[in-house]
Amino acid sequence: MSKFALEEVLSVHHWNDSLFTFRTTRERSLRFKNGQFVMIGLEVNGKPLMRAYSVASPNYEDHLEFFSIKVPDGPLTSRLQHLQVGDQIMVSRKPTGTLVCDDLLPGRNLYMLSTGTGLAPFLSLIQDPEVYERFEKVVLVHGVRHVNELAYADFITKELPAHEYLGEEISEKLVYYPTVTREDFHTMGRLTDHIRTGKLTDDKGLPPIDPKQDRAMICGSPAMLDDTSALLDELGFNISPRMGEPGDYVIERAFVEK
Ligand code: A2P
Repeated sequence: MSKFALEEVLSVHHWNDSLFTFRTTRERSLRFKNGQFVMIGLEVNGKPLMRAYSVASPNYEDHLEFFSIKVPDGPLTSRLQHLQVGDQIMVSRKPTGTLVCDDLLPGRNLYMLSTGTGLAPFLSLIQDPEVYERFEKVVLVHGVRHVNELAYADFITKELPAHEYLGEEISEKLVYYPTVTREDFHTMGRLTDHIRTGKLTDDKGLPPIDPKQDRAMICGSPAMLDDTSALLDELGFNISPRMGEPGDYVIERAFVEK
């Protein structure tokens, strides 16, 4: 069997000039944990050109959803952004990744810290019933430069609370905290600053972040990962040392050259 399944594009949504989302069919045999990524790509000059993409849809859906940046001269995204309904893409049959619930110790509140398309794995995780069973509050932080990069804001604030099975728990437990750095918005600045100053927890009426009780997952650019991990370390959190060994927080490198 080939390493890759050929999936068909079911829909494409462009959020703005630099971000888009698309859905594909899903092979029935593909199993993944919410928060994991797969390699996806296209054949270019007779060879597969593949990049890691977090699955943004939960593992109980029939389709796969991906949230992507458009890099004008990016080897893959310069092509991927022109996907049309009915096109085919390759999807690897081996999901993997470190942003999984199993690698977090039990705790009180779970902080999902993301910037840019680092939001993607958390879109899957905030639709996972286990997340709500394990944590009292699920705090989804999304940092972007411009307001129009707050993709999925309506989905998170309007559609999810009306979710057929999870709506009630989501309404009660999911806390969404978008923050914008380069344009006027009700919440401005980097998420690292909001954690350091206590603004995040104050704004949302949450107890101060406590490494003994709270857990975190981080997904963003390399600089954001470094700074956010350093901050959590400073606060006394212990990172999960490796896959399968739970810790206070986990990270994923989302931003390789695309
Ligand atoms: P800023 O505008 O201050 O750079 P990017 O598109 O560069 O990945 O940035 C997405 C968002 O993440 C922006 O709001 C950006 O803020 C923020 N950001 C960039 N680097 C860091 C970092 N090291 N720590 C926290 N936030 C960051």
